[in-house]
Amino acid sequence: MRIAVVGATGEVGRTMVKVLEEYKVVPSELRLYASRRSAGTTMKFGDREIIVEELTEEAMKKGFDYALFSAGADVSRRFAPIAADHGTIVIDNSSAFRMVDGIPLVVPEVNGHLVDDYRGIIANPNCSTIQMVLSLYTVHREFGLRKIVVSTYQAVSGAGRKAINELQKQMAGSEETSVFPRKIFLNVIPQIGSFEESGFSTEELKMINETRKILDDPAIDVIPTTVRVPVLYGHSEAVYVETRKPFSSYEKLREVMEKAEHVKFVDDLVTPSEVAGSDIVYVSRLRILDESRFVFWNVADNIRVGAATNAVRILKRLLGAKR
Ligand SMILES: NC(=O)c1ccc[n+]([C@@H]2O[C@H](COP(=O)([O-])OP(=O)(O)OC[C@H]3O[C@@H](n4cnc5c(N)ncnc54)[C@H](OP(=O)(O)O)[C@@H]3O)[C@@H](O)[C@H]2O)c1
Repeated sequence: MRIAVVGATGEVGRTMVKVLEEYKVVPSELRLYASRRSAGTTMKFGDREIIVEELTEEAMKKGFDYALFSAGADVSRRFAPIAADHGTIVIDNSSAFRMVDGIPLVVPEVNGHLVDDYRGIIANPNCSTIQMVLSLYTVHREFGLRKIVVSTYQAVSGAGRKAINELQKQMAGSEETSVFPRKIFLNVIPQIGSFEESGFSTEELKMINETRKILDDPAIDVIPTTVRVPVLYGHSEAVYVETRKPFSSYEKLREVMEKAEHVKFVDDLVTPSEVAGSDIVYVSRLRILDESRFVFWNVADNIRVGAATNAVRILKRLLGAKR
């Protein structure tokens, strides 16, 4: 099995390489691509030392079995179709293809069946959306989701390595802001992405559109406010939910939520610094308001659950279906 990782030196790409190893995916050939800046540096995969190469169109014509992309939407738009045209199944972390008709947008626990007989480009959803649908898909199956009002508290790592650097420099006294629209140290910023005509940001629109596509239900009303906080790793969400059918009791609701794969209920507090490095979504502070309305606190590692691990779980699903 031949695998390429594009954007291998980034926050997500590095974690993808680590998760491939942890999930015991053993390619006969693993090629790592990044921009010219990182070409020639080396990265470890098990006991192999792999030289990072500059991404080129030629490289994407090599016909890999699988390519995991996480180098931004522009890179994906240019290079992923070349790889796919040369027989490679692409799992793309960027937003480039997520809302394209015919491209599966996949959280394996929720709609993994979409990739079973599929070749081409597969899209990995937005990080905040992945952890929210993981906690809610069993509720949707059992009772139907009518409305979700969500406020996010998103770590700076969600904006990549340069964003982490900006927070760390500000922690050391810098006043410079280039990644974020305001100072992020000792602050919170209610803008992620750019604002659209509706007043919602691009990140908020991703949560609306991607939730509906993954859960295959365009009628779900999703109302997000996405906020950046000075946390390094781990996105948190305060989520208010209305269901179509009554869930009747706290016990019944909890029983249904606990059926969700890779989701764990915690009766104590859960904070982002505790979940960094984990592949589980943590649900806590579940409160019911009546028979069809509830609120909860939802936390996960954005780089793993929200990106790298989801991509590797898609790959594992593809490998399983092939057997
Ligand atoms: N961070 C998250 O929580 C998260 C979650 C979901 C999805 N994503 C998506 O994943 C992608 C990467 O995010 P990240 O956080 O890992 O960003 P990052 O830390 O900034 O890393 C970007 C990666 O892309 C490479 N790259 C940049 N321009 C390139 C070019 N022209 N040609 C080839 N490689 C290029 C970089 O290589 P160099 O080292 O050479 O610069 C680096 O490996 C983005 O599409 C992002 O939206 C991120």
